[in-house]
Order: sequence, then C-alpha cells, then structure tokens
Amino acid sequence: MGRRALRKIDPAIDLSGHLRTFDQLPRPWDSVSLFGRQAPLEVEVGSGKGLFLRNAAAGRPGTDFLGIEVARKYAWFAAAGLVKAGVKNALVVHGDALRVFQELLPEESLVAVHVYFPDPWWKKRHKRRRVMRDSFLRNVERTLRPGGSLHFWTDVEEYYRTALELLSTQTALVGPLPAPELPAEHDMDYRTHFERRVRKAGAPVHRAEFRKARGTEKAV
Ligand SMILES: C[S@@+](CC[C@H](N)C(=O)[O-])C[C@H]1O[C@@H](n2cnc3c(N)ncnc32)[C@H](O)[C@@H]1O
Repeated sequence: MGRRALRKIDPAIDLSGHLRTFDQLPRPWDSVSLFGRQAPLEVEVGSGKGLFLRNAAAGRPGTDFLGIEVARKYAWFAAAGLVKAGVKNALVVHGDALRVFQELLPEESLVAVHVYFPDPWWKKRHKRRRVMRDSFLRNVERTLRPGGSLHFWTDVEEYYRTALELLSTQTALVGPLPAPELPAEHDMDYRTHFERRVRKAGAPVHRAEFRKARGTEKAV
C-alpha cells in the first residue's frame, strides 16, 4: 500500500501464535492444527494492517479468522496487532491468497470470504494481476459452505462492475444482496484502514455481498 511508514514492531513480541508463512500451513488442510479447535472459519484476502481481522475476531470469539497478506511488512504488522489486542481466534498468513485458495483450502471449508479494497492495478496491461479474477472467484464459490458469503468492497467503480460481472458469469453465487444497514464496529466506524482513507477523502465505497445458495435455494 505504500504511504505512511508503519510503526516499528517490538522485536520482543512473540508472533509464533499469530503468523504463518505459506509453507508452514498444514497439508492437507487442518484448521484445528492452526486454531486449536473446530470453529467456523472466515478468510480475509489482503488484510493489510489488520484492522478488520482484529476487530472481527475480537467481536466474534466463536469464529476463527485467517488473514492472508502477500506483503511481508503488513503481515508482520497485522500479526503484531493481534498479539497486542490479545486476540486468540485470528492469525495472519504471509503469502499469496490466490495460492492458498487454489492449493490448500478444501471445498466448503469457509463461512465467509472478505476482500476489502484489493489493489486495482489501473494500467490495462496490469489488470490481469487483479485478485478478483475468474479462477479466484470460482475458488471462493468452491470453498464457501452453502449459506456462506463473499464480501467485496472497493472504491474503484470500474473494478466493482467488472468483478460483479465475473461473479455473475463465472459463479452461481447469489447477489449482490441488498445492502444491509452496516453496524458501527468500533469507535472509528471504519472496517479497514483503506476504507478510512477513502472515506476521509470523501470518495464513495462500493460494497457487495454475495451468498452461496443452500440446497433448497435457487441461484439467480
Ligand atoms: C489496497 S490494500 C487494502 C488493505 C486492506 N484490505 C484495507 O482495506 O485496508 C491491498 C492489500 O492486498 C494485498 N494483496 C495484494 N495481492 C494479494 C494477494 N494475492 N494475496 C494476499 N494479499 C494480497 C496487498 O499487499 C495490500 O496489503
């Protein structure tokens, strides 16, 4: 993300309970070995400084949260934030979320996937680097349990439209669902650091939620 320098991480902080590299993830997948229990699992792709991860995990202790962040400094920073907050039901993976979905996460293993402000890759020749691509969206559909949801927020309208088009052509996920009233999640009322920045600049945020149909529901 660039911008302001990150605060230094105290080298005395023990990150071993809150940080994994891609290579350290269990094969075959076993979330009990990561979290020490069987609980519903939500994944955040590109967790940045980790504000969502920290607040969501603290607010919903019955659910486990895995943040996946490809930039080392942000992965370390987010993991340190979890340690400082005393959050036990979240950890950060330093690695490429596309590979975690493609190679490791099993079918119907997640109750939610969160993608907040993914890098837009503005230049035409760079757009194929975008996270919200057809193979990833098919993996989201595969890994969600019936009734599970995908949350996608961006400030880039063109990215929003393109992703929604891909979701409708490449998956049977149902949506975008009518926007819910968003409860304030903490004093700042921002879900992520990037949302804070966008909203402070007065720019609009495009939010979409999709759901995997249960057996009896009809995908539209
Ligand atoms: C614009 S930032 C948004 C961060 C955070 N979601 C927020 O809203 O504050 C996008 C983040 O996605 C991360 N990212 C980009 N591609 C990724 C990938 N393939 N796997 C995991 N993280 C990725 C970037 O390193 C960056 O931290």
